[in-house]
Amino acid sequence: MRTLFAFVSFIAFTVSPVYSLSQGSIVVDGNGVQLTYTDSGAPDSSPYTTIFAVHGMGFNGGIFSKIQALAPKQQLRIVAVNRRGYAGSTPYTPTELSIIANGTAEQGTTFYRSVGVELLTFMDTFIQEHDISVFNGDNRSAGGVALVSWSIGNIAGLAAIAHIEDVPEATKSRLASRMRTFIMQESSSNALGLPAPPQNWVPLDISDPTIPAVHQYTAFAQWVSAYFDHGDLSTRDPNVISWVVPSSFTPFTVFNMTRNQYDTIVDTSSNPALDAAQLALAPALESNYRASNFNSTVRSMLPQMKNWFMTGTRSASFGPYCIWVVEDDNAAAGGGFVDFKTIDGVNHLMHWDDPELALSVYESIIFS
Ligand SMILES: *[C@@H]1O[C@H](CO)[C@@H](O)[C@H](O)[C@H]1NC(C)=O
Ligand SMILES: *[C@@H]1O[C@H](CO)[C@@H](O)[C@H](O)[C@H]1NC(C)=O
Ligand SMILES: *[C@@H]1O[C@H](CO)[C@@H](O)[C@H](O)[C@H]1NC(C)=O
Ligand SMILES: *[C@@H]1O[C@H](CO)[C@@H](O)[C@H](O)[C@H]1NC(C)=O
Repeated sequence: MRTLFAFVSFIAFTVSPVYSLSQGSIVVDGNGVQLTYTDSGAPDSSPYTTIFAVHGMGFNGGIFSKIQALAPKQQLRIVAVNRRGYAGSTPYTPTELSIIANGTAEQGTTFYRSVGVELLTFMDTFIQEHDISVFNGDNRSAGGVALVSWSIGNIAGLAAIAHIEDVPEATKSRLASRMRTFIMQESSSNALGLPAPPQNWVPLDISDPTIPAVHQYTAFAQWVSAYFDHGDLSTRDPNVISWVVPSSFTPFTVFNMTRNQYDTIVDTSSNPALDAAQLALAPALESNYRASNFNSTVRSMLPQMKNWFMTGTRSASFGPYCIWVVEDDNAAAGGGFVDFKTIDGVNHLMHWDDPELALSVYESIIFS
């Protein structure tokens, strides 16, 4: 199953930008589609807890490299998987590209079943290759697996959980005995297939056609990594959110990257454009979001898994807004499906700017 990537082509895409992490790729279907990854490695003693981390739009898995470097001494193993097209993972096929551009709702469902099954297969193969331990059911114990999907990476994380019934029985059972936590970190509402409010703005030509298309993903990477001075978020009033303009008083996260880190992590190619285009497949995205969180049949297939939604208080608009949406949906579903965490003072890229804090937040969730 596992193919070690040819060193030369790999290095061009995913030179470990901060620390030396082991790299590899896993074939996730019968057609040779592979997903590349970096791995912080097994901590010195067992059991330990494994986090699979799925990146967002315009930043590949290298964005998790700082928390990967700190993982071993926290008894954590962090595996950052690159979604299709990013950092050497197999690009979408022509058929998939036409579904992303033009697909019907039904084609969208089929497409996300593949995306979901690919991620589940990735996790299961990694679990088998590295003999990842089961979760013994005691919240405070190490062991088992958490899935963290960040930003638009929630499209893949939700597709995976929603399609747990579509993997072979043996895979399902290995995952069911290990999956303890699913963290939706800083999703936007449209990645859940739900509308953004009228105030929504992003520095992309969909919001502002005067932004040159060729520069829009560079603008996005800057803006989304900024800090925002929102008003009193406890009001849950969308009008207190600073939808457009970042704070003048805290440097953007991308300003804390060396040129080499920026060049190896930030992706302004067609990959982010293909992520953004997928938001049009909203019916399938919404169905995955509802199944993963609020469908008791689906949830019972991963019986030990707790779902969490988290966001920072200084993050770009969509994170602080989306937590209210999910809170309302959780309440409407009767409550108890999702837990929530808001982290004071951090932005959308907490895992880069404050990796110690990010790890302690993940741990407080995973071991609760
Ligand atoms: C989208 O659909 C239109 C009309 O069927 C077709 O002409 C066009 O080639 C399609 N675009 C892609 C990228 O598949
Ligand atoms: C990023 O921030 C860290 C912590 O403050 C600092 O040690 C590092 O030098 C900064 N890196 C860059 C490229 O600015
Ligand atoms: C929940 O998921 C099951 C299994 O996929 C499906 O049969 C059922 O229709 C779903 N329920 C709702 C309310 O969507
Ligand atoms: C462990 O999880 C259970 C079930 O969610 C919860 O009731 C309990 O409070 C948790 N224990 C601790 C110590 O967090």
